[in-house]
Amino acid sequence: MAEQQWSAVDQYLGEALVGEDAALTAALETSAKAGLPQIAVSPTQGKLLHLLALTVGARRILEVGSLGGYSAIWLGRALPADGRLISLELSPAHAAVARANLHEAGLEKVAEVRTGRAVDSLAELVDDGAEPFDLVFIDADKPSNPEYLSWALRLARPGALIIVDNVVRGGAVADAHSTDPSVVGIRAMHELIAAEPRLEATAVQTVGSKGYDGFTLIRVMS
Ligand code: SAH
Ligand code: DHB
Ligand code: MG
Repeated sequence: MAEQQWSAVDQYLGEALVGEDAALTAALETSAKAGLPQIAVSPTQGKLLHLLALTVGARRILEVGSLGGYSAIWLGRALPADGRLISLELSPAHAAVARANLHEAGLEKVAEVRTGRAVDSLAELVDDGAEPFDLVFIDADKPSNPEYLSWALRLARPGALIIVDNVVRGGAVADAHSTDPSVVGIRAMHELIAAEPRLEATAVQTVGSKGYDGFTLIRVMS
């Protein structure tokens, strides 16, 4: 009952406020046809990412976990014409779908998908002296979240916003004794954040078409 209502309200809000266009709809369709898991952020969540990127005036965005490029399109559309989105993806098959969808959305000039283990791609960005990022969206394998957070801190400018998806997991995150590697990873990441004086954070619980989950929102203070 509750889940049905969350989805109905999410659908209403999506229609009333979000207005997903042809490129976004096509991105989900081609992703499904290619057999990708249907775990992209929802339209209301994608719009939230878009508005947050606009709000911080993001010129450089880093995404960890591209899937079919759905969240990357929302984020990429917040960039100025000379902005940059780098999205990291383990699966070459997912990356190929994401690249095609970003191209369909007209974002091929600003958006780039790098294939490989995200920890390797992140280390490469640091080694290459990449320009600092204004926004980082972490949405890949949850057990690695502590590592992703540490790399994000090295790659983000002071004032940057780091957003982490799927931090509530139906409420499982509150279980301090959980042995679920994803929950362990999310909790360890929160401990890192709390112990890091340069970071301030909160989290929002969400319900909707993706069930009961949430985002952690982190500001790099200095
Ligand atoms: N951000 C996407 C959803 C990402 S789903 C959206 O909302 O549209 C998570 C993605 O992370 C999957 O495509 C998966 O292949 C990728 N992934 C899993 N482990 C990874 C790793 N170690 N490095 C990089 N990507 C990884
Ligand atoms: C899963 C991963 C996600 O990034 C998400 O938003 C929802 C589900 C998963 O691995 O099940
Ligand atoms: Mg996610």
